[in-house]
Amino acid sequence: MKLKTKNILTLRELDKKELAEILELAIKLKKEHKKGKNTPLLKNKTLAMIFQKPSTRTRVSFEAGMFQLGGYALNLSSNDLQLSRGESIGDTAKTLSRYVNAILARVYEHETIEELAKNATVPVINGLSNSFHPCQILADLMTIKEKKKTLAGLKIAWVGDGNNVCNSLIYGCAKSSINIAIATPKGFEPNQRVVTESKKHVEISLTNDPSLAVKNADVVMTDTFVSIHNDQKRIKKFLPKFQVNSSLMKQAKKDAIFLHCLPAKRGQEVTAEVIDGPQSVVWDETENRLHTQKALLVSLLCI
Ligand code: CP
Ligand code: NVA
Repeated sequence: MKLKTKNILTLRELDKKELAEILELAIKLKKEHKKGKNTPLLKNKTLAMIFQKPSTRTRVSFEAGMFQLGGYALNLSSNDLQLSRGESIGDTAKTLSRYVNAILARVYEHETIEELAKNATVPVINGLSNSFHPCQILADLMTIKEKKKTLAGLKIAWVGDGNNVCNSLIYGCAKSSINIAIATPKGFEPNQRVVTESKKHVEISLTNDPSLAVKNADVVMTDTFVSIHNDQKRIKKFLPKFQVNSSLMKQAKKDAIFLHCLPAKRGQEVTAEVIDGPQSVVWDETENRLHTQKALLVSLLCI
C-alpha cells in the first residue's frame, strides 16, 4: 500500500486504515526478521538523516532498518552540513532531494521540518521536533496491539508532560479508537488544537490528577519531564505528584502495561520498580521502533 501523504510530520497525515496497515506490515516484517529473512524491499533506496539534536533509538533504528531492507542511510549531523554556515533549509531540502529517496530530520522548531517538507520533492519524516514525535507513536501502538491484541476501545493514561510525544499520541489514539486521559501540571497541557481536533473521534480528558487519569487504564505512559529543548528548572512542577510509581500503577487496571519512549530518568518521571518491573514493556516498545519505521519507509517509498 502506498500512502496518500508524502510526509509524516505529526501523525495526523495518516488515515485510520493507513495507520492500521502500517502496524500490520510492521508485525509481518518483525516475524520475517526474527526468522532471519529480510526481503530487500528498499534496494537502491537512500535515506538522508539530519540530526539537530542527539538520538540513540531514532538514529540507529532508521539506519539498521534501511540496511535490513537493502537500502542505505546517511547520518548527517546538522553541524557537518552547510546548514551550520547559514545555507537555508529550503536549499538543503532541494539539494538532498536530487540525491536521496527520503529525508528524516530531528529538529528543534516544528516549522523547520515543515519548511524542509515544503521544499523537498522526496518524502520527509519527522524524527522528533519540539512539538511532535510521530515515529515513536507508531512503535507504541504496535507494542500495545501486540500486548493487548486489539487497540479499539482501550484506555491510555498519559501522566506528566503534555509534550511532543503526547501530541502525536493523541493523533494516534484518535486514529485507533483509543480513549486517552492526560494528567499534567497546570501549564503543561498538550497542544490545544490537537486535543480539540481529536476529541471528535475519541474520548480525551485533561486533568491535573494522575489518580483520576490512570483509573481503569489499560496502558500507562509517561516521558521525561525535561525534553531536549527544556530547562531543568521545570522538574519541580512535576515532582512528586506526577511520578509513575507502584502506588499509581496499582490504581490502573490489574493487567495494565507501562510504556516509556526512552531515554528515562529513573526516580523522576518513573521509578525503577515500575520501568524495570513486570508491567513494563519498554524493551519491546524500543525494538518496535525498528519494525514500524521499516513499515513506514516501505509504505512511503514503494509503489
Ligand atoms: N525515543 C527516542 O526517540 O529515542 P532517541 O532520542 O534515542 O532517538
Ligand atoms: N520528549 C523527549 C522525547 C525524547 C525521545 C524529548 O523531546 O527530548
